[in-house]
Formats: sequence, C-alpha cells, structure tokens
Amino acid sequence: PSYQHIIVEKQGAKTNVGVITLNRPKALNALCDALMREVSTALDELELDKDVGAVVITGSEKAFAAGADIKEMVNNTFSKVYGGNFLNHWNRVSQCKKPVIAAVNGYALGGGCELAMMCDIILAGENAKFGQPEIAIGTIPGAGGTQRLIRSVGKSKAMEMCLTGSPITAQEAEKLGLVSRVLPPKELVAEAVKMGEKIASHSKLIVAMCKESVSQAYETTLQEGLLFEKRTFHTTFATVDRKEGMTAFAEKRPPNFTDS
Ligand code: HXC
Repeated sequence: PSYQHIIVEKQGAKTNVGVITLNRPKALNALCDALMREVSTALDELELDKDVGAVVITGSEKAFAAGADIKEMVNNTFSKVYGGNFLNHWNRVSQCKKPVIAAVNGYALGGGCELAMMCDIILAGENAKFGQPEIAIGTIPGAGGTQRLIRSVGKSKAMEMCLTGSPITAQEAEKLGLVSRVLPPKELVAEAVKMGEKIASHSKLIVAMCKESVSQAYETTLQEGLLFEKRTFHTTFATVDRKEGMTAFAEKRPPNFTDS
C-alpha cells in the first residue's frame, strides 16, 4: 500500500524490524483519522510479514505526535462520535501481536501520549514531553490516558497530569517508569531499532507468548495472571524452539530458532 501520512520501512542488519514514521510535519504529527488508519494498515502488513520480529513507531525530532487532530474534531457532535464509536480503531496498536516500541522525541501530547502508551516499550529522547492536555480544550483523554497512565505512574501523578494538563519531561517520565530509557534525540531511533533487532533475534513464537503473558498483568488479577503465565510457560514446551533453545545452551552453541 502507499501511504500519505506515514513512512513504513524495514530496518536493521537483517531488515527484520518494521519502522513506522509518523510524517505530518506541518501539523506536528497530529493524528488525523487518515493517519491512524494508515498506521492500522501498516501494522496489518508488518504483522503478516514473517521476517518482521518487532515494530518501532516514531515521529520527528520535534514531535512524536501533538495529539488527535483538533481541527478535525472541532465540529463533531455527541451523536456522531457515539454513533460512530469515534477513534475506536486506534486500539489496533494495542492489539498488535508483535512487540511495538515507541521511540518518542519531542511532543507526545494527548492522543500522542496515548499512542505511545499503547506500545509495549517506550524509549524517549532527552527532549521528549509527555502530557494529557485535553482538559484545556474541554475534553478528556479518550484513548487510554485516564487508564494506562495510572497503571504506570500511579494515581497522584496521573491525576495531576490529566487534571492540570501540564506535561512532564523525559527525565521525569523515566523516574516514574513511564519510559524505560532516555537517549540523545539523534540516537533514539537507531537504539530503538537495535532493541527491535535483539527482540527479533529470539523465537517469534515465544516472543509473542511472552508479550501476551506480560500484557495479561494489565488485564487481570494476580492469581489469574499467574495461572495464565504458568499455562503459557507450559505451552512453550509444545514448541520446537523451546527444545532448540535449551539444547543449544547445553551444547554451548547459539540457537537456531525456526519460529515453530
Ligand atoms: C491539529 C495541531 C495540533 C493538534 C499542533 N497542530 N497540534 N493541529 N491538532 N493536536 C498544528 C498547529 O495548529 C499549527 O498549525 C502547527 O501544528 C504547529 O503548531 P504550533 O502550535 O504553531 O507549534 P508550537 O507553538 O511549537 O506549539 C506546539 C504545541 C501546540 C505545544 C504542541 O501545537 C499544542 O498545544 N498543540 C495541541 C496539543 C493538544 O492539545 N493535544 C491534545 C489534542 S486532543 P498551523 O496551521 O497554525 O501552522 C487529543 C484527544 C485524544 O489528543 C483522544 C483520542 C481518542
């Protein structure tokens, strides 16, 4: 497919990391409906691609994304947004079976912050700013900002961010556990791809099981999550790659995973 608002590439020494670059520079990557539909299509494409072991979503050095497109939303009505389940399709990002890394430079505001939080790992440039400023334009976060944020930064900080609308810096975001690492802006995407390559070097089958199991912790109680994990762990013993991984360790050689 050809894309208007994003760039889709495969990077890494083995071209096994999908990279989606949000590319609406004049609007600071505001996430218009067409852009997010393209992201969904790109994820469909990368998910089907057997070579791809991880996906990076990034923006520009100035902005990851400055939010949903306010100009597109301004004349919406309740009946229209409720009737059409407005922006529900954004969930596609959180439903990707392959690991998704957000590489965030600059503004990640509103829907931009929510998009980053739909990813599995967030890496931030030193200049990144994370915020939920919807309150200042008379609405509230609508794609996870009131739900995912509290699970990573806790109630007090999540409330502060959603109620004041003021953003936090990359350094604060790292301290709070919202992002896993802060990097120089110019190295950010390369580091994210490197991380993607590391993930892609493992069995894609087992990586998918691992992601699914970690993700359960968001959805369920500890007892149910531990049971899900245990059963998934047991399931790895039904795979060729589990046998290969352990055999290779015992034989002091690198494993040759076949994603089976
Ligand atoms: C539409 C946007 C935009 C947005 C920026 N632009 N953010 N257009 N939607 N969210 C446009 C501006 O209108 C401007 O267009 C151009 O991008 C450059 O922006 P400036 O404001 O001139 O840049 P700057 O002064 O550097 O300020 C950067 C900024 C500011 C602080 C990020 O743009 C800003 O506050 N943006 C809005 C942030 C926000 O409220 N996000 C939440 C949106 S609501 P022109 O044509 O004038 O050059 C949301 C709900 C999510 O996300 C719900 C999901 C389900």
